[in-house]
Amino acid sequence: MNDDATHYLITFFEPLEFLAPADPAATGRALANIPLDASSCIVDVGCGTGRQTLQLLAETPAQVIASDLASNLLVELVQRAASTSAGNRLRTLTADMLALPLNEGSIDAVYAEGSIYCVGIERALKAWYPLLKPGGYVCFSDAGFTTLNPPKEAVAFWQAEYPDMGTPESAKHIALAAGYNIIDEYWMDQSAWDNYYEPYADRLASLKPQWQGNPVAMDVLASLEHELAIYRAYGDSYGYYFLVLQKAA
Ligand SMILES: C[S@@+](CC[C@H](N)C(=O)[O-])C[C@H]1O[C@@H](n2cnc3c(N)ncnc32)[C@H](O)[C@@H]1O
Repeated sequence: MNDDATHYLITFFEPLEFLAPADPAATGRALANIPLDASSCIVDVGCGTGRQTLQLLAETPAQVIASDLASNLLVELVQRAASTSAGNRLRTLTADMLALPLNEGSIDAVYAEGSIYCVGIERALKAWYPLLKPGGYVCFSDAGFTTLNPPKEAVAFWQAEYPDMGTPESAKHIALAAGYNIIDEYWMDQSAWDNYYEPYADRLASLKPQWQGNPVAMDVLASLEHELAIYRAYGDSYGYYFLVLQKAA
């Protein structure tokens, strides 16, 4: 994707609360697995606009480092967190999630909602392992096929968009091989998809007339529209799941 196209993609998602299928109840269940206190440090990688970061701050007593490649998103997140009573527990870090400039053995939990696909599960779990304290946790959500025989149209779409997409089973194999135990696993409810795609569909409808005549912007909208059409036709063959992992002793 060229720089112009990336600009329109960012513009599309910037005002949206959900940048991936997600549900506060699913976030809460992941967090409930992790014993955290005021001295704990949790790193929210690929935090985006920070919906889940604000929930981490609200529902845990921990220190939270919100990290993303996009520094403009972090600036806005700090402003939003500052209006809450937990804003003083937030730090930000503009960094690649595969090269976090953090000390080895210093982190209680790495939290990755809707972002691990950007680098791949295996690479991410290997990169985070040394940063975690003994017994530290990783929580991540990701897309996965719900059936061993998904329709070829869904496979073709995901092979182009996310070639490594597998299933929770394949993710668990990767996690076990990387030195983690499985603590919790679950599929998110339909509400996670509705939270993501309903405002997304509205945004498509409102931007189309505005971006008419701009071929780069319209190509971006066409590809987002295609993703939505695939979901509407074949969405029952894939879902979004959570895995909670613990670094094995
Ligand atoms: C689909 S968004 C999810 C954002 C957020 N976690 C949520 O669920 O709303 C993925 C985020 O990952 C960030 N990202 C992509 N590649 C990254 C990388 N290598 N390191 C850190 N962040 C990355 C993007 O900038 C984007 O904000």
